[in-house]
Amino acid sequence: MRDLVVDLKEKSYSIIIKKGLIDEINKEIAKIYKGKKIFVLTDENVNFHYGDRVKESLIKGGYDVKVMVLKPGEETKSFNTLPSIYNEFLDFKLTRSDLIITLGGGVIGDLGGFAASTFLRGVDFVQIPTSLLAQVDSSVGGKVAVDLERGKNLVGSFYHPKVVLIDPDVLNTLSDRFFRDGMAEVIKYGCIKNKDFFYKLKSYKTKKEVMKNIEEIIYICCDIKRIVVENDEKDKGERMLLNFGHTLGHAIETYYNFNKYSHGEAVGIGMYEITKIAEEKGITKIGTSDELKDILIQYSLPYSVDIKNSDEILETISLDKKNINNTLKVILLNEIGKSILENTNIEFFD
Ligand code: GLY
Repeated sequence: MRDLVVDLKEKSYSIIIKKGLIDEINKEIAKIYKGKKIFVLTDENVNFHYGDRVKESLIKGGYDVKVMVLKPGEETKSFNTLPSIYNEFLDFKLTRSDLIITLGGGVIGDLGGFAASTFLRGVDFVQIPTSLLAQVDSSVGGKVAVDLERGKNLVGSFYHPKVVLIDPDVLNTLSDRFFRDGMAEVIKYGCIKNKDFFYKLKSYKTKKEVMKNIEEIIYICCDIKRIVVENDEKDKGERMLLNFGHTLGHAIETYYNFNKYSHGEAVGIGMYEITKIAEEKGITKIGTSDELKDILIQYSLPYSVDIKNSDEILETISLDKKNINNTLKVILLNEIGKSILENTNIEFFD
């Protein structure tokens, strides 16, 4: 077992990482919640594997539990899903002194967190992330949001959970593709902040070996994110480093209508491509992009994309919400483990 505290004064919270935690949720909840009613938001896939186990543990703890199960997938993270969730909250007579638990990946965490932050002007919530991506990234840091038809995450807030409960064992039921998806973000942490971690990841030869060390891997990622969020909660400076590979990655996801590449796959391509450009411009140490390419291949992630119409990709980047007044902030590496925020513009990609 490992734990961390995200120090945000009165909004501080713990991240608990423990194998088997899913069957002892009641014990951790009892430490942060003295009420009775708990609303659990999850999706069909996660509910199939873990819904009953979480519910049983909570009932054993004496809680009055209601579970709402949504369809899996990004479409569920729509602004239009919110009324049905608020209606269920109302039917359950949820009050501001009750608790909401989000049990799922990034979609459920972001959507449920946003619903929690807005219902009755804010109800406490707990994150139980079940995908690797959510365990190492989206469940920590308080960014919650929903999508509009015109773009992802366009409506949201900063609203921190009371605790993040991570059981690495739940990754055993994650498909290989979505495991790799999360690994791209894991690799990202090594790239931006921790060279030793990057090479440790490079030294693992099989998924089995990764899983043997998964508790430590998740801990290192959450610890990096914790430090970055403590320094820059509202994403105005250092936190942007977490977006390494995301400008191009997001454009690639958008260009392919979110159905060719997963988020992590697109970020992998974004990390490699931007590093190649930065290397050509003399910003990044020679050989860094090759190191990135090697590790992406090792984890069966794509590193390059044959973009026939690169103008359209550039157009997508210019519409990115981070491209303000033709000033584009990009994250670059000086070398593995050392990242910088660079103010540039769309010509950077030419
Ligand atoms: N996923 C990036 C952030 O939380 O800032």
